[in-house]
Amino acid sequence: MSLAEAGDETALDEWRVAWLGRRGRLTAVLRGVRDLPAEERPRVGAGANRLKSALEDAVAAHRAQLHASAEHAKSIDVSLPGRTPPLGSLHPVTLTRRHLERTFRDMGFDVVEGPDVELEEYNFDRLRIPAGHPARDMWDTIWVADDAGDNGGPRQLLRTHTSPMQIRYLERRQPPIRVIVPGTCYRYEATDATHEWMLTQIEGLVIDENLSFAHLKGTLEAFVRRMFGADIETRFRCDYFPFVEPGAELGVRWQGDWLEVLGCGMVHPEIIEDAGLDPDRYTGFAFGMGVERVAMLRYGVRDIRHFYRNDVRFLRQFEGRR
Ligand code: PHE
Repeated sequence: MSLAEAGDETALDEWRVAWLGRRGRLTAVLRGVRDLPAEERPRVGAGANRLKSALEDAVAAHRAQLHASAEHAKSIDVSLPGRTPPLGSLHPVTLTRRHLERTFRDMGFDVVEGPDVELEEYNFDRLRIPAGHPARDMWDTIWVADDAGDNGGPRQLLRTHTSPMQIRYLERRQPPIRVIVPGTCYRYEATDATHEWMLTQIEGLVIDENLSFAHLKGTLEAFVRRMFGADIETRFRCDYFPFVEPGAELGVRWQGDWLEVLGCGMVHPEIIEDAGLDPDRYTGFAFGMGVERVAMLRYGVRDIRHFYRNDVRFLRQFEGRR
């Protein structure tokens, strides 16, 4: 056996004894020195001693190596249970948005998205909210600073609602249209328990021949029942949005109180006409709801500002929820 083959302490000791022990092979050589002719003794003696210390060094080095790998083996305890990496979970607004999307998909709606950075034209003008129109005050706007806008070109903003996608979708698609548009919206707004400067909306747009307010009511009531249960109480009240006529808000009765969940109305005939469609033939309805508002109802969250504070103590409560 060579020294390199000594795989453990016992084998190493065997090797050391065989060469360097009292009856070892090198010890025998050293002992034989005295029997040599006097003139050969110094040369053989010195060589054998050099060999002896080389072998001792090699044994020590090999022993150190064996120790090091034994330590290494100890530090990997293959019997330890695996460590579970920390897993994140879906945000309550994401959970709610997905639930809403599923509900509308089941009702036959397509799902599309639009740009967060929008042109003033789509966010306002083409929704019948021209500059100077008092309704612009309904949406305090975060404008995007850019050279084009400063030089009289098209101005850009962070969309204040998902309604601009009504116009964009009508530009590309022909009726029948049945689509929802989930997305983030932004408002230049002081925050409080029910207002955030960033929010998620789901826009709905339905256009076809002979649609009436009864279709709007029927569709939204069916949606609310799927979402909140069959015996939920609902109410429609008049409301005003420049891009619908008539306009309404839908409220649900939640723990005794009426809560507004969405704005809605019949798409304004001018918008249908601008899209190149005959408003005597095509009609439809639109709605827009706040996803955070629905999430607050679902999970009993009392302050909308919790959603975007990124406090893990809040977020962990939604682990494993749907
Ligand atoms: N866009 C409106 C809002 O942000 C909601 C709305 C959408 C109202 C569609 C009517 C029709 O408040």
